[in-house]
Amino acid sequence: MSKQSHNFTALAVEGVRTLQPYAPGKPISELQREYGVSDIVKLASNENPLGSSPRALDACRAALQELELYPDGNGFALKQALADKYAVDSACITLGNGSNDILEFVARVFLSPRYNAVFSRHAFAVYPLVSQAVGATLHVAAANSADAAMPYGHNLDNMRALVDADTRVIFIANPNNPTGTWLDADSLESFIRDVPVNVIIVLDEAYVEYVREKDYPNSLAWIDKHPNLVITRTFSKVYGLAGLRIGYSISHPDIADLLNRVRQPFNTNTLAQVAATAALADPEHIDRSVEANASGMQQITTAFERMGLEYIPSVGNFVSFKTALPEAQVYESMLREGIIIRPIGNYDLADFLRVTIGTEQQNERFLKALMKITEAGS
Ligand SMILES: Cc1ncc(COP(=O)(O)O)c(C=O)c1O
Repeated sequence: MSKQSHNFTALAVEGVRTLQPYAPGKPISELQREYGVSDIVKLASNENPLGSSPRALDACRAALQELELYPDGNGFALKQALADKYAVDSACITLGNGSNDILEFVARVFLSPRYNAVFSRHAFAVYPLVSQAVGATLHVAAANSADAAMPYGHNLDNMRALVDADTRVIFIANPNNPTGTWLDADSLESFIRDVPVNVIIVLDEAYVEYVREKDYPNSLAWIDKHPNLVITRTFSKVYGLAGLRIGYSISHPDIADLLNRVRQPFNTNTLAQVAATAALADPEHIDRSVEANASGMQQITTAFERMGLEYIPSVGNFVSFKTALPEAQVYESMLREGIIIRPIGNYDLADFLRVTIGTEQQNERFLKALMKITEAGS
């Protein structure tokens, strides 16, 4: 190999040169390797602690017989199942390798160095990533203050104020990760009405199934009225299929057509398609998972209150909290106890950490370890 000096970074397109890659939750195998601990509890990536639907697993086993074949590039059966479930035309549906894939399609289709994307401070980390990668300018709106009714949540007035003639995409997470905050139907629809129709509004509903608030929007009913809306959802969270990477969007068919133009021909694999289709037909698994999440959330937040810890009330399957210790110290000490949570300083939430709601036993282990760490550190 040539020893000539090189600077490949200088060759990269401008948006990529300063891009910080997404930092995922630490995998269990990595913690085992690095710290030699076993009996690990991972509460770092908002996965479903009850696992996948047994029907999805059966469907995967059956599909193992045909792995030599390419998947259905159009995902016909899954799109049909989604179309039936949500009473939309299957031409409105785009399948993604996780809903992240769809966020990337939106950026590639609608953004460029000439345009900007609007999103909130403390919003899901992938919005700046996909926007910056295509050279778009980032318009980051100030979030609600710490003492607001929805602390650190999206502030729609501030977001609206950043929309200008060069705005092409607005990203809204409802609920948002990592804050767990949410927007009610009236506020959100009046925001959508107020935004010009040539601005694409991505409504990221990765955690929609967990939300029980009565004022939470039924956004699918808006697709006909608001053609600039792209609703993204995923099978990674309550459906318990994160490892298979499968998500989707529902939008105006013309937008779906554009998203499909940049999609890899076989972006979603056979197992993901059959598992997701089967999981849609197992509402009992979803009900069980949502119930378990509600009681786990209660278990954890009650303990936080007893411990006097600040936390952000969340409607998702995770909750962000703060101790008196630096976040990196708590994270490290937790790892040594065999518990993986997520420091979220990169979300501009200094000293906050996020924990996914686990099973009752996992939550108990997390809380015991947290008490030990905070008592030793105080
Ligand atoms: C708000 C939000 N949107 C989208 C995603 C992407 O999930 P996936 O690509 O697994 O569908 C996540 C995952 O953490 C998320 O928290």
